[in-house]
Amino acid sequence: MKAVTVSHISKSYAKIPALQDICFEAEPGEIFGLIGPDGAGKTTLFRILTTLILPDKGSATIGSLDIIKDYREIRTRVGYMPGRFSLYQDLTVEENLRFFATVFNTTIEENYDLIKNIYQQIEPFKTRRAKALSGGMKQKLALCCALIHKPDILFLDEPTTGVDPVSRKELWEMLKSLREQNITILVSTPYMDEAGLCDRIAFMTGGRILRIDSPQNMIAQYQDPLWAVRGKNMHKLLNDLRSNKNVKTSFAFGDAHHITCYDEALIEKELEKFLLEKGHEEILIKPITATIEDCFMQLTNHE
Ligand SMILES: Nc1ncnc2c1ncn2[C@@H]1O[C@H](COP(=O)(O)OP(=O)(O)O)[C@@H](O)[C@H]1O
Ligand SMILES: [Mg+2]
Repeated sequence: MKAVTVSHISKSYAKIPALQDICFEAEPGEIFGLIGPDGAGKTTLFRILTTLILPDKGSATIGSLDIIKDYREIRTRVGYMPGRFSLYQDLTVEENLRFFATVFNTTIEENYDLIKNIYQQIEPFKTRRAKALSGGMKQKLALCCALIHKPDILFLDEPTTGVDPVSRKELWEMLKSLREQNITILVSTPYMDEAGLCDRIAFMTGGRILRIDSPQNMIAQYQDPLWAVRGKNMHKLLNDLRSNKNVKTSFAFGDAHHITCYDEALIEKELEKFLLEKGHEEILIKPITATIEDCFMQLTNHE
């Protein structure tokens, strides 16, 4: 049985579509990532799957449970960590955890094993109010609260947004160890570099899924030869690259622009000359292999 099956789900807010014909399946025990920018529809999808809102069309099951018919039981089987405001800011660390345990008719002690590794990191601060915790500690506490009733499946909505790099890394380590305990994890993120940490990912934008695959397959199937181009004036460089007839696509990527072209042979021969004539200095053009972000850009470009 699939951990999650989503079939043709659509949802609009005041006639503006937020999700359009979403279909996918998640396997038990996998980390399935929804990767997409703000407004892609990630939160709306999570809220539907955790039975907080209803879809306009389509259906979905969590295990064998239907999100509409069996919503009560689903709520006991899923853990949900919303992007923001999941903690009670005026309660202490321990009070928050105890509150979530009580809501689900359990105790911290009963399921302590599952959260032990994570909770131990914040236990020294257990009498501190949630509002006084750092971003990373808040995330750890929120994760413990989402886990305390021992869910089969965990929905994490942008768990690393606004979290420092060390805590981001720690969070992904925790997700991997939860996967080893056979918990299925659906996680959303706008960060492309986190896509590679998932078993499979769905690229989302504008309420649609563009493609679903493992990050390895996405990269392996990237078709076009790709170059990184750098220069002294990166802003002008991007405009000039876009004006070159042989350049098919060009995107700013951190410290370099990534480009694909129509005629590979011309890149080596003519691009540098073209850029020199445009007055560029310190030009560097080198072939590179695609990253997940390149795959995403290529897919959105084709849309
Ligand atoms: N409660 C709401 N009322 C009206 N529009 C909404 C509401 N929630 C989300 N939207 C809109 O739906 C789209 C998808 O939003 P959301 O699901 O929050 O995406 P994401 O989580 O990927 O940023 C966006 O265009 C957003 O503005
Ligand atoms: Mg969101």
